This record gives sequence, C-alpha cells and structure tokens, in this order.
Amino acid sequence: MGMNLVILGPPGAGKGTQAVRLAQAFSLRHLSSGDLLRAERARGSALGKKAAEYMDAGKLVPDEIIIGAVLSQLSDLGDKAGLLLDGFPRTVAQAESLGKALNQAGKRVDVVPALAVPEDLIVDRITGRRTCPRCNAVYHVKTLPPARDGICDADGAVLVQRPDDTAEVVKQRLEAYHRQTAPLEAYYRDKGLLAEVDGTQDMDTVFQALSEAVRRRLGME
Ligand code: AP5
Repeated sequence: MGMNLVILGPPGAGKGTQAVRLAQAFSLRHLSSGDLLRAERARGSALGKKAAEYMDAGKLVPDEIIIGAVLSQLSDLGDKAGLLLDGFPRTVAQAESLGKALNQAGKRVDVVPALAVPEDLIVDRITGRRTCPRCNAVYHVKTLPPARDGICDADGAVLVQRPDDTAEVVKQRLEAYHRQTAPLEAYYRDKGLLAEVDGTQDMDTVFQALSEAVRRRLGME
C-alpha cells in the first residue's frame, strides 16, 4: 500500500515546489488544497466564490467548507495509491478528520515533513512568485525564472501573480499560520511522525534533505 505524506510549513516555504518533486520521486498523488480552491474559483463554483473571500483576505477557509471539499477527493483514490497532501490539514480539526477518513480506508498518515523558513525569506519568496494559471507551475522572478520572461515553460501561458501574494495579505497569512497551523507540528511530533527540514537552502538541497528525512522515517535506509 502506498505511503501517505503531509507536508507542513508556513506560506511560501516551498511546500508546492517540493511536493511536485516528492510526488514524482515516491510515486504519490499530489493533492494541493490551495490549487483545488483556485480551480474552483476559476470555474466560478459556489465553493470557489465562498473560498475567495477568505483567500483574498489571507484567512483560512472555514473547516466546515474545506474538510468536505478535500476529503471528497480522497474517496477517488485507488486502494494502492499513496498521497502527498500539501496545504491540508491546516488546523487540528482538519488533521483529526483526515486521520479518521484514512483510518476508515485502512490507511494512515505515515510521515509529516515540515519545512522551516524564517519570515524575511518567506516574504521574498512570496512576492517574487509567479504562477501558471493553466498548469499551476510555480516560478520565482529571481530564484527560478522561466526561460522567456513572464511565460510558462510548460505550456506558453502568461504567468500571473496570485491575488493573495501581496505584502499586506502575506502578513495576514502568516498570522493565520502561527495561530491555526503551527500547532500541527506539535500534534504530529507527539505522534512520532514529524520530520523537520531546513527550508532555507536551494531547491535541490531541500529536496535531498526531504527525501532523506522521508526514507529515514519510513525505515527505507
Ligand atoms: P495555499 O495555496 O496552500 O498557500 P500557502 O500555504 O500559503 O502556500 P503557498 O502556495 O503560498 O506556498 P508554498 O509553501 O507552496 O511555496 P512555493 O513552493 O509556491 O493556500 C492559499 C489559501 O487557500 C490560504 O491562505 C487559505 O485561504 C486557503 N486554503 C488552502 N488550504 C486550506 C486549508 N486546508 N484550510 C483552510 N484554508 C485553506 O514557493 C514559494 C516561492 O518560493 C516560489 O516562487 C518558488 O519558486 C520559490 N522557492 C521555493 N523553494 C525555494 C528555495 N528552496 N529557494 C529559493 N526559492 C524557492
């Protein structure tokens, strides 16, 4: 049976960037709650419209909305599929619901890598980020620029800046992180699942450290 990973870290820590690589390396299905909500917004669904109010203010979407939205995606999974959750859970209530849903399917969270990045670096990473609205590829104007300025390498779409990537909204997102999400580190540490990784280094070095931490925790090396 595939393993299930939850990647933790503050906004802009590099969760999405590393989740794409880890999913490929460990053959996991990458599920990003942020991407899911942005896709709902783009479709103009009721969920997307409701979520937009919170996202643009840098607040967490309420548990009663997000839990159902993410867990309904989990029921699509084949028995053998492993999961990499990025952006969910973000509150203890979400973590409890996830634990129950996995448990009912005979699965569990196996390891929780957590990226540690200080706030000054986070602000640089978030304000320099550019994303592809079509394929969700993530770039950075300084650390990971596309080959052609402002154009996605993968599909040629014009890159955009997320509406919640302004310095002002980032402040709110960090506040929400400290108040509501940071307690998850202790939650998973107590369960013996947390693997802390220094997220300040370059992307390849962080990936190496994450892969080693996952293998170590799962007894793969
Ligand atoms: P979400 O999309 O999950 O945003 P986030 O957690 O704030 O995370 P980010 O996507 O901003 O950052 P990241 O850690 O993935 O960093 P990235 O790899 O892009 O959520 C958005 C909103 O949706 C929330 O505010 C909330 O409203 C709502 N929401 C989502 N899930 C929810 C939930 N479960 N409950 C309630 N509400 C929810 O990297 C950032 C930049 O840095 C990029 O430009 C990248 O190229 C660059 N970079 C990455 N790594 C490095 C490196 N090592 N060196 C240099 N540059 C790097």
